[in-house]
Amino acid sequence: MTRVAIFVSGGGSNMVKLVESMTGDHPGRACVVLSNQPDAGGLKKAADMGVPTLAVDHRPFGKDRQSFEDALQTALVPFEPDMICLAGFMRVLTAGFVSPWQGKMLNIHPSLLPKYKGLHTHARALEAGDGEAGCTVHEVTPALDDGPILGQARVTVAPDDTPDTLAARVLGMEHQLYPLVLRRFIEGKRDTVFLP
Ligand code: GAR
Repeated sequence: MTRVAIFVSGGGSNMVKLVESMTGDHPGRACVVLSNQPDAGGLKKAADMGVPTLAVDHRPFGKDRQSFEDALQTALVPFEPDMICLAGFMRVLTAGFVSPWQGKMLNIHPSLLPKYKGLHTHARALEAGDGEAGCTVHEVTPALDDGPILGQARVTVAPDDTPDTLAARVLGMEHQLYPLVLRRFIEGKRDTVFLP
């Protein structure tokens, strides 16, 4: 059984879908949900599903990313994770944390990478006049929103879309894509899947 730690910063809707998917004959199980935001809605949702939770507040560490990441790593140890899924985790992780987990850490990003790394992806897609948008699940490497692409899902951009309406439609696809890619990843598959 592959033990999966899930990192969130907010509401954790992707985390819920991942946890819900890991039942029955699924080869993975959520071992902990961790947040850098002690009041993240995702922590309560995880606890309600019976998953252990952990908060490591980044704020007391200020600009000292290394100490924050050391605290993350130390806090994870008792849960013995085999891999990490970033699911709306909004802190940039440096090479010091990422490198030991490389090949064992996934992220979901709300754009069709390599387009629109970073923030405000939906606004940027609309400003560019793109006809389609979407989301990507990729392996995490030290470079931001980079790393081998394992899955992508596309949506058509509507003429009256706003960043919020587009984000909501893409999020619906994220909820399908991330569980699919996670299962395939645990099963050892590394080719890219596309939805729909
Ligand atoms: C999702 O749209 C995810 O793709 C995005 O944050 C949202 C989290 O929603 N992640 C990033 O922007 C990472 N850079 P959720 O908390 O409801 O899963």
